[in-house]
Parts: sequence; C-alpha cells; structure tokens
Amino acid sequence: MKLSRAELKGLMKAKLMKAGLNDQHADITAEILTWSDERGYHSHGAVRMEYYCERIFKGGITHDPKFEWKETGPASAIFEGDNGCGYVAATLAMEKAIEMAKKSGIAIVGVRNISHSGAIGYYTEMAAKEGLLSISFCQSDPMAVPYGGSEPYYGTNPISFAAPADDRNVVFDMATTVQAWGKILDKRSRGESIPDSWAVDVDGNPVTDPNKVNALVPISGAKGYGLMMMVDIFSGILLGVPFGKHVSSMYHDLSEGRRLGHMHIVIDPARFCGAEQFRENMAKSIDELGEMAPAPGNDKVYYPGERAEKRKAHAYATGGIEIVDAIYEYLISDDIHFDRYDHKNRFAD
Ligand code: NAI
Repeated sequence: MKLSRAELKGLMKAKLMKAGLNDQHADITAEILTWSDERGYHSHGAVRMEYYCERIFKGGITHDPKFEWKETGPASAIFEGDNGCGYVAATLAMEKAIEMAKKSGIAIVGVRNISHSGAIGYYTEMAAKEGLLSISFCQSDPMAVPYGGSEPYYGTNPISFAAPADDRNVVFDMATTVQAWGKILDKRSRGESIPDSWAVDVDGNPVTDPNKVNALVPISGAKGYGLMMMVDIFSGILLGVPFGKHVSSMYHDLSEGRRLGHMHIVIDPARFCGAEQFRENMAKSIDELGEMAPAPGNDKVYYPGERAEKRKAHAYATGGIEIVDAIYEYLISDDIHFDRYDHKNRFAD
C-alpha cells in the first residue's frame, strides 16, 4: 500500500489522539514516524504504532506531562520528561538546545524520564537545519549481549551525529548493535528471514528466524560494546536514571513510565572555524567523496543520510510511502490496540 505523506501522517496522528495523546504531542510523534517511513527507516515508522497506542492507552506514556526545563549552567540543562512521549520531549529539548548553542556556542542537554524517542537522526537533523553540529544518543531496553557475555545487558543504544553542508546535511544515525530491534520487527511483519550475523538464540547461536531472536550482538565486537556502554553512561548514568540491565523493558508493563534517558549535544561552528568556512568545507568534502571512483559493486560513495534522502525522493516519485498492508488496515480501523504487547518478554512481536 502506497500512501502520500499527508495521508500517512494524518492516519497516525488521528490514531495517537484516539489512544490519548493531545493534538501537539500526536502531531510531533506522527511527523517523526512519517519522517522515518519516507526515508525507508521502516523499523522506526508506522510499524511501531500499535505498540505506542497500547502504551498510551494504558497510561505508560503521560498524556499531558509536566515538562520542565532546568538550566544547570550557561551551556547545560536537564529537560524533565515526566514520562511523556519521548518523541515530543526529545524534539522540544532539541529546540531549546539549539537556542542555547546559538547563545553559548555549545549546549549539553540531558532529557530524562521519557518513553521511546524513535529514529534519533530526526533530532540531529533539526540542529543541522539551523547550521549547527550535533550528537544525540539514548538508552533502549537491554537486548544486546556485551562483548564476551552471554546475557543481554545493554540496549541497541543508538548514536546520531549531524553536520550542515550547503543545502545538504550529513546525518549519521545508527544503532550500536549490528541491527536495530525494529529491523527484526520489520522482518517479522514481512515474514522474511534475517542474516545470521544480526542476533543469537537462547543458547547464543546465530539465528536466521526473526522469531527465535534472544539477543542482538554489538557492531564490531568489543568496539561496538564500548560504544553502547558509553551511550548508557552519557544518557543514563550521567542523568541519574536507571542504567544497563536496569533500563525498563519496552514490553514489561505498559501502564508504567519507562524513565529512559536521552542526550543532545549541539555545537555552533561559528565558535570554531567560522560558520561559512565550515559549510563550504563540508560541501567540498562530500563532493570529493561523491566524485571518487566507486569500488566494484558500488554505484557511488554516499555520505551518511544521502541514501535516505534518495529513498524519500524515490518514494514520492513512485506513488508514495510504502506501508505494509496489515499496518495500513490497523491504521484505518477503529481499534486502538489488541492487547498484544503488555507483559510480553522483550522479544515479543
Ligand atoms: P542503518 O544501518 O540503516 O544506517 C546506519 C548509518 O549508516 C546511517 O547514518 C546511514 O546513512 C549510513 N549508511 C548506511 N549505508 C550507507 C552507505 N552505503 N553509504 C554511506 N552511508 C551509509 O541504521 P540502523 O543502525 O539500522 O538504525 C536505524 C534507526 O534505528 C536509526 O534511525 C536509529 O536512530 C534507530 N534506533 C533507535 C533506537 C531507540 O531506542 N530510539 C534504538 C536503535 C536504533
């Protein structure tokens, strides 16, 4: 099923409001889910709707949270999320971080006690659109084995960096596991198998059946493990929220707030080499990469985020955003949720 941007966003916003979110919160959430689907990040788009609606409906996401902005210094702040919608808290906190970085040159903003915040490249792109560099990372529920370990301890703990060029932005955005958990969900929803390098079963053996996944594995062994640990330190331990294996599970109790942490760091290039020179050299750098002769089997050297922009342009040139039929049926139905996620183990559908 192909949908226009307005159709997809409209259906998701209406459903989120029906589950209990207010107009502004439903609008921001639907916008970011659409941003993900239109760029081909289907793991973080409409596939998540039923789960969010169940959690919103059951009260595990505060409908009208009391957000609080607490400046702790000229370039540091805490955004208290009151277990509100993570998409909204992370967006509003990034707006504040952008303002602060323009004033102070840098902003380090911890967002705490929030629910899942989705594809975090959305937030770093916000800063890039304002001519600023940024880094964003957040916790997610423990489902990855540490290097050399046998039990899940860390989440897929994503990291995103972004930097502005001319009219282009470099947006690097990745999970610190070989694959994001949402990619397993996406494969399940399509009835497809997964490569044996993504995950392991209960015995620690590689699996190709997405239904048999018991833990994900860090990217590049010890290096990915180190990165996911640092994400947990910066966005968990530093912010005083639960960390490591104590981070709440997505599916444990959908009537409880998740208390997740998220960190934004924003830098104004004007305080370093100068905004103009930075953008010029960024453009030069990504042009040089794009002009390089590709290695056999590749069509070009892309900069991070470029292929997502290409997928978006392709979607709109070919009739809209591709959405799995079963998800579309759910979005147009009157149902809010089917009680499928509550108290399931972390690897439930
Ligand atoms: P991915 O593997 O699809 O891409 C990772 C990065 O590599 C992207 O920046 C992409 O632009 C770049 N890239 C990929 N192929 C490239 C190529 N050929 N040339 C140049 N650059 C290329 O992303 P991943 O790790 O699957 O993450 C997907 C999404 O899941 C992200 O948006 C992430 O934020 C989100 N996520 C969110 C979590 C949460 O709890 N909020 C947890 C984990 C992931």
